[in-house]
Amino acid sequence: MAQTPQAKYRKDYQSPSHTITDVDLTFELQETQTTVTAISNVTQLGDQTSLKLDGESLTLKTVSVNGETWANYTETEGGLEIHALPNQFELTIVTELNPAENTALEGLYLSDGAFCTQCEAEGFRRITYFLDRPDVLAKYTTTVIADQEKFPSLLSNGNRIDQGTLKGNKHWVKWQDPHPKPSYLFALVAGDFDILRDNYKTKSGRDVQLEIYVDKGNLDRANHAMVSLINAMKWDEERFDLEYDLDIYMIVAVDFFNMGAMENKGLNVFNSKFVLANEKTATDTDYLGIEAVIGHEYFHNWTGNRVTCRDWFQLSLKEGLTVFRDQEFSSDLGSRAVNRINNVRIIRGPQFAEDASPMSHPIRPEKVIEMNNFYTLTVYEKGSEVIRMIHTLLGEEKFQKGIKLYFERHDGTAATCEDFVSAMEDASGISLKHFRLWYSQSGTPTVEVSSDFDESHSTYTLKVKQHTAPTADQAEKQALHIPFAVELYNSDGTTIDLVSNGQSVSNVLSLTESEQVFTFEGVNEKPVPSLFLEFSAPVKLEYDYDDQELSFLMVHANNEFSRWDAGQMLLAKHIKSNIERVQQNQECIVPESILAAFKGVLANKELDPALVAEMMTLPSFNEVSGWYDLIDVDAIDNVLTVFKASLANELKSELEQVYQRLEQGEYSLEHSAIGQRALRNCCLAYLARTESGQQLVEQQYQSAHNMTDTMAAMQAANSAQLSCRSGLMEDYSQKWKHDGLVMDKWFQLQGSNPDAGALKAIKETMNHEAFSMKNPNRVRSLIGAFMNTNPVNFHAKSGEGYQFAGEILRELNESNPQVASRLLDPLLKLKKYDSHRQALIRNELVTLKNMNNLAKDLYEKVTKALEE
Ligand code: TRP
Ligand code: ZN
Repeated sequence: MAQTPQAKYRKDYQSPSHTITDVDLTFELQETQTTVTAISNVTQLGDQTSLKLDGESLTLKTVSVNGETWANYTETEGGLEIHALPNQFELTIVTELNPAENTALEGLYLSDGAFCTQCEAEGFRRITYFLDRPDVLAKYTTTVIADQEKFPSLLSNGNRIDQGTLKGNKHWVKWQDPHPKPSYLFALVAGDFDILRDNYKTKSGRDVQLEIYVDKGNLDRANHAMVSLINAMKWDEERFDLEYDLDIYMIVAVDFFNMGAMENKGLNVFNSKFVLANEKTATDTDYLGIEAVIGHEYFHNWTGNRVTCRDWFQLSLKEGLTVFRDQEFSSDLGSRAVNRINNVRIIRGPQFAEDASPMSHPIRPEKVIEMNNFYTLTVYEKGSEVIRMIHTLLGEEKFQKGIKLYFERHDGTAATCEDFVSAMEDASGISLKHFRLWYSQSGTPTVEVSSDFDESHSTYTLKVKQHTAPTADQAEKQALHIPFAVELYNSDGTTIDLVSNGQSVSNVLSLTESEQVFTFEGVNEKPVPSLFLEFSAPVKLEYDYDDQELSFLMVHANNEFSRWDAGQMLLAKHIKSNIERVQQNQECIVPESILAAFKGVLANKELDPALVAEMMTLPSFNEVSGWYDLIDVDAIDNVLTVFKASLANELKSELEQVYQRLEQGEYSLEHSAIGQRALRNCCLAYLARTESGQQLVEQQYQSAHNMTDTMAAMQAANSAQLSCRSGLMEDYSQKWKHDGLVMDKWFQLQGSNPDAGALKAIKETMNHEAFSMKNPNRVRSLIGAFMNTNPVNFHAKSGEGYQFAGEILRELNESNPQVASRLLDPLLKLKKYDSHRQALIRNELVTLKNMNNLAKDLYEKVTKALEE
């Protein structure tokens, strides 16, 4: 490495020395040599007469001030310092770039021949020298010039205000964005696309043109994205009273993209995975993902763009809030319980794991080396849980009052998390003084509950202790303000009204101290408590339920989430005890209580099939791993496999009945149809582990008329290791080998193949015509799946899984550090494995650390992991 990368601290924030009010950009686009002319109106804010601009990988051509060449500047490592400037001036900078060589996919790059940009977080500095920080808000005018035939569509933010042609078969379009914005929201796209058009009239009467740009030939896959966009626009008006603010909204789908999508003002750029779908190419999960991401980016127009972040430490201000909004959108349109269950699975699995890793950080980080490393589950998903807790404490009405005040105060500015919390507090009159600690304290709290029923006084007492273990970034922890939603059930399934000191009390209790006692009066029989309803806080619950109580809640709890949660606790309890048994060389036995409870769930025709499918799904390997300080890979895998096989064989006839009963005709995206397919395919996954499994799986593969059912058959064959697997894989590959996006599902199956020879096959798969190390979706599908969902092979004692990961990471370090850094995550958790595996992982990390061109993305994580 040239220089040790330097960390930035939240506490060191300083307002900018200058601001840029207007910027006029001209792009002369050519694949290997693009010229960018940036004319900025700059105003000095303090007493500094030098201006330090950010810039990376740029070739500087000229600098002028007020139209005259300016020689008084120095080029530095991270940018350009211009000296002895007047108070206010027009700055013209010409730079040159090479988009064709940009494999990092940050700044201006080529995706399958189309130009596109990605500027968040700090990519604009790869386009021109600029004050590339979110608290500098400017109005942008952008002229794009390119070859007319190769690039018929020339797009940027805002409204198209002028266009024309030039000699040499070139044309140009001029765009103007009336809304001041930070540089990270800038976007430009140039290419040859098919365009799906529609329009939307906002509730105050604005006519908005909607345009979705997709690769030629993909128009038949753009409809669901358009429907989702219109639904999102309508939902934001109804639930949040927020309307769109430009006359055009464009979405461009590209195949080469580092993340999911980007909310650039008026011109969203999307990973094609979150736009393209038809029933033959996409699964129900893909459809729901598209709805969520289209919603997410649209909702950023207010929470992110109209009010943006003062500095990158405040990222959760826009991301936590926008994830909360997209979750509510999906829940209002579909099944609230299923959405909540899937979000909670993410928190309990990978987010808790991140909290316990060397990268542990609060939702508002204190220290950052590479900002791209902080687009994390903690900032996004836990950030959303923090917003949800505020919503729980205030209720919908006061929460909406808070949102309104937030926009009254901060519209058009760059704000902080503190600004958001203050607005919520001031609008509601509810103190969030103690609650704010969630923004600065990292780690997962454990809440230990015990209960006592006093028959003679008819009282019931909950004794609650909270504790947060030290994390890699923070040794000392304090008690948090935790909303603790509870219900108490009588044996007949009715709930008891909570009364304390003669007063009726809310069922959302506030935990604020490390130990608290709550006593309820008028309780005449020993109740069954349901705790942390709807997962009212992102904590680990410890309560000593017996099997009967959990089975009771699975049937009688009012709320679908509570029923699912009780089922998960019952499974967790017995998975844990069996892991211990296996570690003592005893047999793994699935108890009768579980078989009976899940038989009941399957037989209950009153339950929503989508919920039954969720209830029947065991916690993942990764979630189970999170319960332990030391992960016993083989014992966990063994127990989960035996549980699946036992449930399959013991519940075979019930599974078969449900499978047959839910046979469908036409494919429909109605939520009830999605739920029925989910349950039917969940049954198939179990039945694949029984004697008749192979036949059923092959039959479903042959007769499937949509991708959901096709993939369910392949997944079942893959995880149950059926001998038909290779035939189905071959057939699918023949059919889809020319379509990378559809092949990603196949690459994922190759990556997660539990077979002992999987790694060899994965290495061969890298030569498949649809695979490319330059495409992040392909890399994540094949190699990401191997590292995250193939525990037995990835953690093979031989070390070959780790070595393979190391080779890949060294290659990606050079071509695309952002993708490399995300892929690295499972290796950071080395401390959770036995000393043999730890040494093997450490080896790979040390090799990376010693590379002389290690990117700062990897440097930050590798050094943290090795320090621990
Ligand atoms: N702001 C984007 C979102 O949450 C995500 C994002 C951040 C991103 N950095 C990125 C997307 C880099 C692509 C590349 O919607
Ligand atoms: Zn976002």
